[in-house]
Amino acid sequence: MVATTQTTGEGWSSRSAFILAAVGAAVGLGNIWRFPTLAGESGGGAFVIVYIACVFLLGLPLVLSEIFIGRVGQTDAVGSIRRVAAQSHASPGWSIFGAIGAVAAFLILSFYSVVAGWVLYYAGIFGGDFVQAITAGEPFRGALAGENQEQIQQRLSDMFASPGLLLTMHLFFMGLTLFIVARGVHSGIEKAATYLMPAFFVLLVGLVLYGAIEGDMGDAIAFLFTPDWSKLTPEVMNSALGQALFSLSLGVAGLITYGSYIKEGSGLGSTSAMIAVADTCVALLAGLMIFPIVFAVGLDPAAGPTLVFQTLPFAFQAMPGGALFGFLFFVLILVAAVTSSISLLEVPTAYGIGERGWSRPKSTLIFGGGAFVIGIFCLLGYNLWADVRPLGFWSLFAETDILDTIDGFTGKVMLPLVALLTAVFIGWKADRNLLRATTGLSPWAFGLWRFLIAWLCPIAVTIILVTGLFPSILT
Ligand code: PHE
Repeated sequence: MVATTQTTGEGWSSRSAFILAAVGAAVGLGNIWRFPTLAGESGGGAFVIVYIACVFLLGLPLVLSEIFIGRVGQTDAVGSIRRVAAQSHASPGWSIFGAIGAVAAFLILSFYSVVAGWVLYYAGIFGGDFVQAITAGEPFRGALAGENQEQIQQRLSDMFASPGLLLTMHLFFMGLTLFIVARGVHSGIEKAATYLMPAFFVLLVGLVLYGAIEGDMGDAIAFLFTPDWSKLTPEVMNSALGQALFSLSLGVAGLITYGSYIKEGSGLGSTSAMIAVADTCVALLAGLMIFPIVFAVGLDPAAGPTLVFQTLPFAFQAMPGGALFGFLFFVLILVAAVTSSISLLEVPTAYGIGERGWSRPKSTLIFGGGAFVIGIFCLLGYNLWADVRPLGFWSLFAETDILDTIDGFTGKVMLPLVALLTAVFIGWKADRNLLRATTGLSPWAFGLWRFLIAWLCPIAVTIILVTGLFPSILT
């Protein structure tokens, strides 16, 4: 029997604390690893422009919707949706999208922690290189032990071939995430964001300046901002939409959960805009940091997912001061990943507290431990279980290993589904006066939001969902 919803009673200490934590949740591997990868693969400019349009026309209205639900609900995602539904005379059954979102967050966390583990290796913190490098008097060589392309490629393959190493790093990263979330909203999540986000921005600006001074900034700007519309295929539009959802942390009830810790004040519209603008700026800056370096060394921007793990380490090592800046680059990704992984764990944790009545440490341990175990399956998919295809019966995932299956299933099915249900719920079911009073939007902004969330979002997200699941209809 599900207990009646309890409020967790926790809250942010200020509006800026909420913004920092929410920006921390949004800025992650999605901005620094996935965005440059996709932009590089899709030929730059055209992808970037469609991506920005998706963020502001679809993403931003959804950000505001999720924060609204949390702000009104004041508890975990499921309980919050139920509360908004009750105040809007809608069915409590709508809370199902909170539950799907929480499951998606839990699943994403499992592989996110594995990928963050690779970053630990490249930062030289694991894998022995760091110690070797220090003994050799070159502390920052850890990130860049290879001498040529083949050696760097070998390094990536060696890492994938070692389940023990992958497991240790996954354990370390998940342990850190668990530790922060177990300490609670105020002394865990908020504190982590207040220390880590300023450090993140200093590192980011430093690395962009490094790219501008030592790299080929002109080519990078031309690549990222000159659209070649012939490159704009339906697949590219589809991936731009999917990336916008992922990067803004939409569809996992994360912003519902974080929004529920807002205790007072309105101004939800400007808060949402700040989150979307900050997340987009970070993605663009990540592009302006990575591509000048890639171009300076004459490498291929379309390397795919190994851009950051193979192309970039090679580029760094050919650059002046590259060892130090390469190391700092991986520290930057790590910082971004931590502030996102804690938001992923917080969603199911809040569910355990709000709906099951568990204590915070118990809920953190159950969901963090569960995601850790699923992550072990993901990392074994790179070595011992390389042949396992969990959804092999489904043509879409026929060739996909364990980690990519979870990534693909959450990204192509669960996130768009939750985003669609959120848009329909807010656009068509939620009480207008409640929306108006809670968001405090001006009449024109309110009208625009209502139009985007009731019409554009459901239509566009349905298109992503359908074309994502049945790519053959595009051909
Ligand atoms: N937005 C995060 C990123 O860009 C990923 C994420 C998705 C985090 C969903 C939380 C929830 O890396």
